[in-house]
Amino acid sequence: MWTVSCGRVYRFGMSADPILAPHRSIRVFRPEPLPEGMLERILAEAQRAPTDATAQMYSFVRIASGDLRRRIAEFSGDQAHVADAAEFFVVCADLNRLEAVIASRGHAPGTYPATGLHFATVDATLAAQRLIDAAETLGLGTVCIGGILNGIEELVGLLSLPRGVLPLFGICLGWPGETPVERPRVALASVLHTDRYRGQTLEAIEADAGAMAAITRGGDWIGVLARYFASGGIMEQREGALRRVLERQGFTY
Ligand SMILES: Cc1cc2nc3c(=O)[nH]c(=O)nc-3n(C[C@H](O)[C@H](O)[C@H](O)COP(=O)(O)O)c2cc1C
Repeated sequence: MWTVSCGRVYRFGMSADPILAPHRSIRVFRPEPLPEGMLERILAEAQRAPTDATAQMYSFVRIASGDLRRRIAEFSGDQAHVADAAEFFVVCADLNRLEAVIASRGHAPGTYPATGLHFATVDATLAAQRLIDAAETLGLGTVCIGGILNGIEELVGLLSLPRGVLPLFGICLGWPGETPVERPRVALASVLHTDRYRGQTLEAIEADAGAMAAITRGGDWIGVLARYFASGGIMEQREGALRRVLERQGFTY
């Protein structure tokens, strides 16, 4: 259930007193650039994200070239917003810079691909979320782009990503050209556990499917998830390329 008050969209049954600026992914952007200095402020906020072991194991690659943008938009599933947004970044897990820092004092790099993948993915994601929060606080719109995985092998080449650097997802950033409703979420009880993990009951799954129905045109949220994650789904098609890139970039034994 949704209601609109003073131009803000609130959700029945959840806090009517939000803490952060509203989040909704934006897929239509106005063409204006960001004003002078705004991007630097947002990136400075992103850098304030917590970081494991102080290592800051991530890089953002800003895509300024229009040709590069259009190519990434194309292999990401013809997502026009990748080319149209004022800014587009590829968020990467990055062990390359850390190893260069260690090597600068003559230390040989350790062998920890699984731990490195874990640390760097967490660091990159926390920084990216802070970037999104900062952008939304300033009235900008954002959308993450996992579609880059469709062309991940090409992307590694296009961006000259060295060993130790793994592209995770993209982020479009710019002035919103649409105001979609806030999309629903599953019940808090489905994601919150106390003391020990509790499996999902069928009743809870059905209730969540009902709440999430609004997220799909046909109302079949579980069908959408199955198209992605069930046997024969889109994720299986992506798996081979990602495994090859993980190996090439040094994230496997
Ligand atoms: C890692 C990640 C990858 C995503 N990839 C895409 C994408 O390729 N294209 C897209 O339009 N939205 C993408 N999204 C946005 C989700 O579809 C969106 O967050 C979800 O539907 C919930 O909607 P909301 O963000 O408006 O609440 C992605 C989100 C995440 C976190």
